[in-house]
Parts: sequence; structure tokens; C-alpha cells
Amino acid sequence: MFDQDTLQSRAKPACRAMPDHHYLRWYRPMLAAAIATFSVLAYAQDDTPPRTTTTTAAIASANVLATEAGFETLAQGGNAVDAAIAVATSLSVVQPEASGLGGGFLALIHDAATGKDTFIDSREMAPQAVSEADYLNADGTPNRDTSLNGPLAAGIPGMPAGLAYMAEKYGKLPLAVSLRPAIRLADEGFHPSGALVRSITRKEEVLRRYPASTSKFFPDGKAPQETGIFRDPGQGATLKAMAERGADGFYKGPVAKEMVKAVKAAGGTWTLADLASYQAKERAPIELDYAGYKIVTAPPPSSGGVAVAEMLNILAPIDLKSMDEAHRIHYLVEAMRRAFRDHNEYLGDPDFVKMPLNMLLSPYYADGLRQSILPGQATKSAWLPSVAVKDPGMHTTHFSIIDKDGNMVSMTATVNTTLGSGFVAGSSGVLLNNEMDDFALVAGQPNAFGLIGGSANAAVGGKRMLSSMTPSFVVGKDRLAVIGSPGGSTIITQVFGAILAFIDGKDAGQITAQKRIHHQFMPDRVDIEKGSDIPADVLAKLEEMGYEINDADSWGNMNVVVWDRARNLKTAASDPRNPNGLGKVEAVH
Ligand code: GLY
Repeated sequence: MFDQDTLQSRAKPACRAMPDHHYLRWYRPMLAAAIATFSVLAYAQDDTPPRTTTTTAAIASANVLATEAGFETLAQGGNAVDAAIAVATSLSVVQPEASGLGGGFLALIHDAATGKDTFIDSREMAPQAVSEADYLNADGTPNRDTSLNGPLAAGIPGMPAGLAYMAEKYGKLPLAVSLRPAIRLADEGFHPSGALVRSITRKEEVLRRYPASTSKFFPDGKAPQETGIFRDPGQGATLKAMAERGADGFYKGPVAKEMVKAVKAAGGTWTLADLASYQAKERAPIELDYAGYKIVTAPPPSSGGVAVAEMLNILAPIDLKSMDEAHRIHYLVEAMRRAFRDHNEYLGDPDFVKMPLNMLLSPYYADGLRQSILPGQATKSAWLPSVAVKDPGMHTTHFSIIDKDGNMVSMTATVNTTLGSGFVAGSSGVLLNNEMDDFALVAGQPNAFGLIGGSANAAVGGKRMLSSMTPSFVVGKDRLAVIGSPGGSTIITQVFGAILAFIDGKDAGQITAQKRIHHQFMPDRVDIEKGSDIPADVLAKLEEMGYEINDADSWGNMNVVVWDRARNLKTAASDPRNPNGLGKVEAVH
């Protein structure tokens, strides 16, 4: 979530009128500022001839320095995968509040030469000694401090293994070359963003509990300033160890020993064996057809792809365009409600849990769900068999890349909540995640996000916690999009809305700017982003149908690249709600 002050400071004059479009009309008010930004960053599109060629690459990420790191790596002869490694590791340095080496990621890769789409699961895993007792107070109630702060909150990181795997199997450059921009940023420093400065200030109490966190985030005894230079030599040294020894530079040897020593000294349970056993996994993505487009999205341990597929399957035969706005929103929300009901009921780590994926992804299952939608009335979530879902988190990061050859990467990476566990593992400089909280840690008890655990997502040593991260591709005959966003459970409805907007003909700037709408079964209310232009009579009609409408603060931080192959035009856009992002299109030779 972004502060209003930063949003306003970003406002620029509108550059042209937008077409009046049917079922996404409520997103319109953000478009003007976004298009202005977009035209600067990603070039004008309707009024000028396409300036792109087949040697053009596009990158959109949540931080300008990370986007530039990606282009630097392409200029070295790298492909989209090498650029993704540079972007992810640069974000680890410049946007540590959202993701990093001490966290994990889920990514889709498209290999243009073979046409293959694949999924890299670098989700964190529970250490072997995980114990429910560590997350309970003496009176048996959940201990939210241990599940969110400090080393017990941290799963074994997945990002270093996943990046090394991607470099080896799908990259063109040695890992050491792709890591150069991040090493330089860590060693030479950078101006910290306002978001990073505010995150450090807000998490000060937790960060100051740990000496290495204090020296990393309060280098002169106080929080960094946006006008100052922030350096991260500890992380720079760890990146250099990875440049020399690949994943072993992180999971074995001096860095691993230092992290385990620091974790144990602060009451955590990690062992060298936990680190040495971590492996990134390559999995088959979920694929489905919707409105003549192929949707490629994240399989478990993400719940996001399954939920998005369920929503699209429910909507598939419905003619949304012929409906009035209230009924369009009604059907979108009822699809969200039903997909979210299944969200945490069935899903977990596919290596540990048997999941009814054939059922959940089946059009026949969707037929049944669709038939349960009442034409002019909200279904109360309480009428459906109950499961609880977590509230949206506003953390994590997503970036999208298409290189000059058409290779693509859609990566969502996270340390879970802002600045993760707040625990920096000694001199490694690695800020550890607090992803253990994404497990249903205490049976029958809600965790910090209101999640009541099913056994599918119970914490077991070596198991990966369920995620909402939903990196996706949408591929049509002439146009394709690389899509994703942070935002906890809202990721799923953001990606759903972005897919529909893209299929509706929107470009990257329009997709990221559109106003958002979210329903996640529980709480039983429709969040509509503040500033939406849904007319009052439509809102009144929705309330008449039985909906509770919530005028919600902005959420998400979407980064999208669109390739219009018919017009030979790429567009890249960073979320206009984020003042630090950059979507950029550039010729690369
Ligand atoms: N930690 C947020 C998610 O993976 O969904």
C-alpha cells in the first residue's frame, strides 16, 4: 500500500482521453496519471508509429534501479532469465522490504526457442525441527510474535537456489555476470526509496532487537534518509560468494555457517542440513483457455493459479459485455467468492499433499459453481460451507520481462510481510523472511492473518507453505501479456482483473492503472478501490442485491509487459500507485 503523499507527488497531467470501456469502467479514474507516466516510461502508443522492433526488450519492476539492472544484463548478451536474476537480486538490495535472498519466489519462464512454458518453485520450506509449540503462548493461544518476528518465523530461503537453477538451465550468462548490478548496488550504495525508509521506521522496534539488523538498517544509529546513501556490504559479500560458488555459496560453507550460528543464537532451529537440502523445483504450470486466450499461471504451492482458473472457468460462458455494470460486478464477485472458498480448503505443498486439482480445474466443477449463482442476489458466504482466508498483505514484489527474442519471465518474490522477520542473519547481511506465518501453524487457531489451518497447509519439516503469488502469462494469437502483482490474497483478484483487462484490449499502462475490486469469501464484503468511478446508482443496485461495499484504500503494486505482435509493439508499465517503479521498453542489440 502506498501513502497518499507519494501518490500525489507522482501525479502528472493526463495526455489523452481513454476509450469508454464496459466491465472495467470502475478503474478509469487512475488511468490519466498512469497514462502520463506510461507515456514517459514506455512510449506513446496510439498517436505515434510503433518505435519498437523485434530487437526490443521490455521490463517492468517495482524499482527503477532494478529495471535498469535488467537492461544492463541484456546489454551484456543476457536473455530474459539473466535479466530476471539481475532484477531479483537488485530488488533484494534496493527493495528489501518486499523480497530478497532470505526469501523465496515463484516464476514462470517462457523459452522462445522451444515454445516451452515452465514454473520455478523457489518457495521457502520449513526447517526439520519445526514445532507447533514454538508458535504457542503458555496459555495455548497463538504466539504472533514468534510466527512473524525473529528467526523462528523464517523458512529456509529459496531465492538463491532458484536463481542459480534458472541461470544454469535457462540463462545465457554465468550467474556471476547477472549478479554484478546487485553487488555494485550493495557495495556502492543507492538513495533509499521513501517506501524503504518508512518500512524501516515502522519496524524499528523489531529490527533493533537484533544486532545485525540494527547495524544494517540503522547504520549511523538512525534510520536512513531518502537523500542519503544506503549501503549493504554484508549482502554484497554474500552475493559475491554466490557469484563464485553458485547456490553453494549461500547454502554451504561460510555464509551458511554464519546464518545458522546467528539463527541458533537468537532461538531459531535452522541447521546446516536444512540449508544444504534446499532445492528449487521445476513444475508444470497450470494452463487453461479463456475467451480464445491461453492462460499460463502458477500451480501449487501457489493457490493463486488454481483460484484464477476457477474464476475464469466460472465466467467462461457468461456474456459479461452484454450485461449492465451492476450485474457484471455481481458475476465477477460471485466467481471470486466461490474460488476463494476453495482457496485454503484443499491446497498446500504438492510434494506433501494430495489435492483434487482435476476437480478444481474442471469446467464441469465450474458449471456447478456457476449454477449456484443467483441472477440478481448476492450469495452470502455464510450460506456456503465455511473456510477462513487470510487478509490481504501489502508486501512482496513482482516483475515482468520480455527479451528481444521473445523469452519471458514473470516472477513474484517475497519475504512475506514488510521487511520479513526483521532478523538479519549475522554478517551474511541476509534479511530472513517470516514466511512460516503462511503455514497454518496452530491447528484450529487463526494465524496473524486470520487463516484457520487445514491439514493441507500444516507446517511439517521440509514442506513449503501455501502462497498466493500468481505470476502469469496470457497468450493470444496476436497479443500476449506478462502479469503479476504483490498483495497477499488480493494478488489473485488483481491478476484476474488484469487478465480480463488485457483480453479486453488494454495495454500495459491501462492494466496497471485500472481500479481494483476484491472479494475473498471472508470477510463477506466487496472491496472497491477508493476513487473508482462506479456510478452511485450501480453501487446502490449492488447494495440492493445484498452486497456490503467497502470503499478501500489502494492495494497492489503491479508490473506488466504487453507484446502486441500484430503491431510489433511492446509496452511496459509499473503500477502508478508506486512512485519507485519503472516500466521501460528499449532496443537491445
Ligand atoms: N507471503 C505471501 C504469499 O506468498 O502469498
